[in-house]
Amino acid sequence: MAAYEYETHEYDVVVVGAGGAGLRATLGMAEQGLRTACVTKVFPTRSHTVAAQGGIAASLSNMGPDNWQWHMYDTVKGSDWLGDTDAMEYLAREAPKAVYELEHYGVPFSRTEEGKIYQRPFGGHTTEFGEGPPVQRTCAAADRTGHAILHTLYGQSLKNNAEFYIEYFAIDLIMSDDGVCTGVMCWKLDDGTLHLFSAKMVVLATGGYGRAYFSATSAHTCTGDGGGMVARAGLPLQDMEFVQFHPTGIYGAGCLITEGARGEGGYLTNSEGERFMERYAPTYKDLASRDVVSRCMTLEIREGRGVGADGDHIHLHLNHLPPETLAERLPGISESARIFAGVDLTKEPIPVLPTVHYNMGGIPTNYWGEVLSPTKSDPDRVAPGLMAVGEAGCASVHGANRLGSNSLIDLVVFGRAAAIRAGQIVDPNAPNPTIDNRSVQEALDRFDGLRHAKGHTPTAELRLEMQRTMQQDAAVFRTDKTLAEGVQKMEGVASKMDDLEVSDRSLVWNSDLMETLELANLMPNAVATIVAAEARKESRGAHAHEDHPDRDDENWRKHSLTWFKGLKAKLDYRGVHLNPLTSHNDGGIDLKKIAPKARVY
Ligand code: FUM
Repeated sequence: MAAYEYETHEYDVVVVGAGGAGLRATLGMAEQGLRTACVTKVFPTRSHTVAAQGGIAASLSNMGPDNWQWHMYDTVKGSDWLGDTDAMEYLAREAPKAVYELEHYGVPFSRTEEGKIYQRPFGGHTTEFGEGPPVQRTCAAADRTGHAILHTLYGQSLKNNAEFYIEYFAIDLIMSDDGVCTGVMCWKLDDGTLHLFSAKMVVLATGGYGRAYFSATSAHTCTGDGGGMVARAGLPLQDMEFVQFHPTGIYGAGCLITEGARGEGGYLTNSEGERFMERYAPTYKDLASRDVVSRCMTLEIREGRGVGADGDHIHLHLNHLPPETLAERLPGISESARIFAGVDLTKEPIPVLPTVHYNMGGIPTNYWGEVLSPTKSDPDRVAPGLMAVGEAGCASVHGANRLGSNSLIDLVVFGRAAAIRAGQIVDPNAPNPTIDNRSVQEALDRFDGLRHAKGHTPTAELRLEMQRTMQQDAAVFRTDKTLAEGVQKMEGVASKMDDLEVSDRSLVWNSDLMETLELANLMPNAVATIVAAEARKESRGAHAHEDHPDRDDENWRKHSLTWFKGLKAKLDYRGVHLNPLTSHNDGGIDLKKIAPKARVY
């Protein structure tokens, strides 16, 4: 039994993570007078939301007709009919309110001539239930929208007396024997001390797990820490097989070139100089949904029409656009293209390649952000004391594929929803729940075990093996063979967690230990991804299965759930929510409009 001293802190709410969702939840909790702490492993304004470029979707109608029903329809279609209908309605309806709130908090949005929030087109966002032209729905602060939102929310959270614990790494959830989350154990990175945060509500806002892959637009900090903690707490992960590849990562470097580039008029070409998207998606072309564009690019490369010496990437053209537009609307990517691709985008195309960008799957929640602990008889059972929001969570609003700019809106709508819900169920006058010492000891023992790991496999070596396996076998296109091989390889990779070698035993700024804890979080996320992908015998959204090329609604319109015993995965499924929040008679969407059909753009 490891003996460590720790300091105990008591709050009504503890939010883990300070990206867009974590800060919006923190702000909403603090505004209501709940004693709120935000615990984060990086400085808040360095969270990965800072890298979000193109914008945030909301049907403001600033640039032409739009409404929440069209936004909802596009989200349903984008999800390839796997999203939960109630959650998608909530997202589309609440989006304008959430964006105007951001505006009032002080987000410096770009403006139209009349001073309204500027909105640009983004892939898969349309008018007239997919029958009309593309819509300008994506509200932008140039191409630094995430940066603008993050700084504003951090300032507002401080103003409302939220307390920040910065560079604290969350080790494990503290759970009672009857499955209630009562807190989280953390390690303070700069002085090595341990801290137990006791709370009536813990909110996981830890982001995605893009770093399970070799090439990702995600920051190196995106290590699925929330998913790792939840898996160890005996709760499932949902829809993990759906991993989004963004069409335009810079070739080689993997950095994001925003879809806003195509929104502003950019287009893709192959080695023959052909605008090939016109062949695949005759109506929306380069503004088809991202999973579609990524697949078309991959097909062009496979069929020998890739560009470059090795024919292994695609060109993105912006050089036909006026330099003033590029300077005003896309200053950030002008810089990224110069630094990471050596390209002056006013003169030359940018070399790009589909790159891992987003995890549709995550910790299952309802649309209030409450984490689910499903059983056969109650698939929507709530795990008390625990919420998950943002990319860490799975509401499930994106289903099998997320539309661009629906991520930033997901962060603020569901961060805000979690705060509204916490205001209803957290009693500031009640005592904090009793902490279970067994759970505390388990967290300390695991931490100590990794700190003193004496095996033969360095963390960095095992991480690379995992990343290469995932990149190769859980890719844009998948087959029975690659997935079966992938599962087998990942079982081998995961088993080496018992043979890890950590060489630095100290507690202060021990990056070796921190990366090991991160790898321990990445691993269940990666295993769940490949296991759930291998099991799903259909193609849907980002899961493009060459041996099962069609969507199969009869057998597979259901969410996967992956539970863990150690690193052994066990799969089950739960039904998709088909009912909206509001009936058509009461102003809700006409369900006939969102009935499943072929997904063409
Ligand atoms: O392309 C982009 O700017 C990314 C946006 C998103 O993932 O929502």
